[in-house]
Amino acid sequence: MGESDMGSAADGLSRRIFLEKLAKIGGTAALLAGMDALGFGIGSAMAAPPKLGGTPKQKKVIVLGAGNAGLASAYELTQSGYDVAVIEARSFPGGRAQTARKGFTLTELGGATQTCDFDEGLYINHGPWRIPYHHHSTLHYTRKFGVPLELFNNDNDASFLYFERGTGPLAGKRVRKAEVAADMLGYSSEILAKLSRQGALDARFGIEDKEKFIEFLVDFGALSKKDLNYTGAEGRGYLVEPGAGVDPGPGKPSVPYKMNDLLDSGLGHMLSSVAREWTQQRTMFQPVQGMEQIPKAIARNLPKGMIRYKTEVQRIRQSPDGVTVDVLRNGKPETISADWCICTIPLSVLKGIDHGLSPAFAAALAKCAYAPVGKIGLQMKRRFWEEDHGIYGGHVFCDNPDVNNIAFPSTGWQGQKGVLLGYYNFIANAAKVSAKTPAERAEMAVAYGEKIFPGAYRDSYENSFSVAWHRVKYNLGGWGMWSDEARATAYPVLTEPDGRIYLAGEHMSYIGGWQAGAFESAWQQIERLHARAMKG
Ligand code: ALA
Repeated sequence: MGESDMGSAADGLSRRIFLEKLAKIGGTAALLAGMDALGFGIGSAMAAPPKLGGTPKQKKVIVLGAGNAGLASAYELTQSGYDVAVIEARSFPGGRAQTARKGFTLTELGGATQTCDFDEGLYINHGPWRIPYHHHSTLHYTRKFGVPLELFNNDNDASFLYFERGTGPLAGKRVRKAEVAADMLGYSSEILAKLSRQGALDARFGIEDKEKFIEFLVDFGALSKKDLNYTGAEGRGYLVEPGAGVDPGPGKPSVPYKMNDLLDSGLGHMLSSVAREWTQQRTMFQPVQGMEQIPKAIARNLPKGMIRYKTEVQRIRQSPDGVTVDVLRNGKPETISADWCICTIPLSVLKGIDHGLSPAFAAALAKCAYAPVGKIGLQMKRRFWEEDHGIYGGHVFCDNPDVNNIAFPSTGWQGQKGVLLGYYNFIANAAKVSAKTPAERAEMAVAYGEKIFPGAYRDSYENSFSVAWHRVKYNLGGWGMWSDEARATAYPVLTEPDGRIYLAGEHMSYIGGWQAGAFESAWQQIERLHARAMKG
């Protein structure tokens, strides 16, 4: 079902009947899944851009920023007859939705210029890199503009966990996630099943439910039905894999780790993400050939010349009748006037511009902090994680927060070379690591990876490309962060227009740090702008 046919009365009725039936048959879970399938959008709130019907009376809009929020605003407004100018400081569209490949350059504030030297065809998404299946707005644009997607392997049981800070024999040892998962689930299930059998949970269950619960735990934890013991599970892998003939024949089962050792290592904490976080799923999406394909596709569908690249906003002013923006275009001053303005400049940057916004707005802007975030792509001449370990995508989570996450490419399987993510750090660790030169950052990342993959990581390493988003001039941070207090007081102020200026971007959403937040805040603001523009 396309988005365009949402909302006709007949359609709505048949969908309601369908959903009512579904709820009767399958309960709430089926109802929710059905709603999602029908595009009701329980994942992100909006599945399709607003319909901006009619002819606006005041139709000149200046959009500040050609990131995803600015591009979506420009595209949708143009479709509805608005006359749009987009101002973009960079020479390309996408904002943070960038892909570093051969020749891509980045100069951090006070830092060296890096020019990416990956081999042709290799890249790193050093900004957004994964798309949840329920981010309908992002998927709306990939579908609409035919941006091919592939799976992003966000959780790979075959991959390793590497924790150094715990104690016991598993500290500083790489351990497959499947082993930790099987053992922690097995032991936890064993304990619960035995307690239930002993009657310790009788106050909680009726007899029938108690038996059902034990049956569930036997399955869930791969327990022996007879004595409810956990002695290992096929899913954690083999000591010797099954094969042909009698040798290896059925193979040799693996031996579980001791529960105490697992607890001492802290590795079990890495099993929480699936249940905890709605945006983190085992399988996600990424655009083929890089995240930049999404903004590029939207930009291609804007009228030629609509985006004025290499144009920096210097000063914003408004009157009851309109907005004027002074810019430097290729270094030359220009003034652009419009009836309305959609400002998608990150608040971290906007704060430092002569924006002329009301004191209440200016005070609210100051309350949004921006996250220091760092990433590094490491080109490896050999895909040792695939060849030697059978790890196809996914992450190695580490408990050293300077590195945090090593992630393998979800594309180019079994190719010769590959670019992996060598670290993904945040806040204080991102600030610390970003003080290093690009070469020092790479050395830190390679030295750490070598501990997990001795003999392969350093030997395979060829070159790197790193970013510290808080040191990127036009971003000054990875994404906006709202404290509870600022979310309650400042954020609502900024969701309202300040005169004729509307703010949009991931920071103006509850899907912060995701492209869907940018798209949906843009959709919301253009709808409100349109309602006013129709009144004249
Ligand atoms: N959305 C960001 C990520 O996927 C935070 O890592």
